[in-house]
Amino acid sequence: MLRMKILIVGSGYVGLVAGACFAEMGHTVICLDIDQKKIEQLNAGKIPIYEPGLEELIARNIKAKRLFFTTNYQQGVKSTSICILAVGTPADEDGSADVGYVIQACQQIAAHMEGYKVIVNKSTVPVGTAALVEKTIQEQLNKRNVFCPFDVVSNPEFLKEGDAIADFMKPNRIIVGINHPRVEKVMRELYLPFNQNHDRMIVMDVPSAEMTKYASNAMLATRISFMNELSLICEKVGADITSVRKGMGSDERIGYAFLYAGAGYGGSCFPKDIKALRATAKGLGQPSRLLEAVDAVNHSQKQLLAKKIAAYFESKGGVSGKTLAIWGLAFKPGTDDIREAPSLVLIEELLRQGVHLRLFDPVAMERAKKLLGEREAIVWCKDEYETAFSAHAIVLVTEWKQFRFVDFSKITPHMKGHAFFDGRNQYRPSEMNVLGFDYLSIGQKDHLAETIEAYL
Ligand SMILES: NC(=O)c1ccc[n+]([C@@H]2O[C@H](COP(=O)([O-])OP(=O)(O)OC[C@H]3O[C@@H](n4cnc5c(N)ncnc54)[C@H](O)[C@@H]3O)[C@@H](O)[C@H]2O)c1
Repeated sequence: MLRMKILIVGSGYVGLVAGACFAEMGHTVICLDIDQKKIEQLNAGKIPIYEPGLEELIARNIKAKRLFFTTNYQQGVKSTSICILAVGTPADEDGSADVGYVIQACQQIAAHMEGYKVIVNKSTVPVGTAALVEKTIQEQLNKRNVFCPFDVVSNPEFLKEGDAIADFMKPNRIIVGINHPRVEKVMRELYLPFNQNHDRMIVMDVPSAEMTKYASNAMLATRISFMNELSLICEKVGADITSVRKGMGSDERIGYAFLYAGAGYGGSCFPKDIKALRATAKGLGQPSRLLEAVDAVNHSQKQLLAKKIAAYFESKGGVSGKTLAIWGLAFKPGTDDIREAPSLVLIEELLRQGVHLRLFDPVAMERAKKLLGEREAIVWCKDEYETAFSAHAIVLVTEWKQFRFVDFSKITPHMKGHAFFDGRNQYRPSEMNVLGFDYLSIGQKDHLAETIEAYL
């Protein structure tokens, strides 16, 4: 294997994981970011995000002198032959992906290019961005009056936060979009250590690679919205969405994955990528009715828990003035990422309705505090037990494993009410009833405590 020298531009969830994994496989990696504080933290051995296993991986590779951090483009570009872009591509006001950071990064790279470079784009970007990257770099080189050959590759990333290292180390597929056969060799060398077991690389043209990322996320989001819509119908007809999921998932053409009804999808990818794909289609005059529906269903699903809570408390003097415990703030378990998290929609709505909130998440507290700020109606708690103290109801929003094995006997005596809203269908209704809870979930019948006898 050839040891390559790689520059990763953007040291967030994707950049740090990719950098650490490439270093672990023997390459020399410089992770660059414009956020000076982040780089100082990393150089001091502190990891700015929560991702299981990442801290150890980074520490090991820093020690082995295979992983470095910098804010200095000149140093980064000069000492590497491959530049991997992993900067953010947030949604613009009209929903389209803002590729401003990608373009800025390319200008900086081109300002220091001297020899042949491969520019690999790992950020999620609309079709046509590789061409824009090429144009940007060429213009910058022209300005400098420098001749410098380069290739632009599309190499979208598919890692999942919370499982990012395993996903990167053993990817289902490595999508590589190229516009010249010479660069395939470089990409094969870069990913050689990840392809030992079998060839995971799928080589295609650049627009198809860029599109594959959006297509994959759109498919997954569609499955979630499909199940969420179905769950509402299940509630009305008296069917149970968890049974329905098992029944339909057993069909191998369908499979079980991504068929969970819940509080809606969030995170830094699905919401923005669906919107970006819709914006691309709209810009081309191409209707995207299905994607529109996926987005709309998700939007209303994120409001469902608040509606269920308000309806439940209507006959109990209203929800205003009640105290609710929220379990889980991250957009999913295994991460501290709260971008577009369903918890945020719920929290804002409950606060608007005059509810007192007690909040807890195993790892996302710091980020949530920063975003929500200190508010009189919010109490930040140290664990799920403290959160439930004096609450009229518990609302499970993120299905962290630790919430599955709670000793409810330590909780119920200290609550003011006995409602449990399960936004992720994590518990067995009959068991929650036996514990004395009114149990309300997604796509299942409401199980009120009076119905205990039915299960005995
Ligand atoms: N987070 C995920 O799970 C995930 C998975 C697959 C793909 N993606 C995609 O990967 C890209 C990065 O996502 P992320 O979650 O890692 O973002 P992030 O916000 O965590 O990190 C982006 C980093 O880029 C830095 N940055 C911005 N402009 C820069 C510049 N000009 N030069 C150097 N650094 C710069 C920021 O300071 C930040 O640290 C996005 O396009 C995203 O859609 C994300």
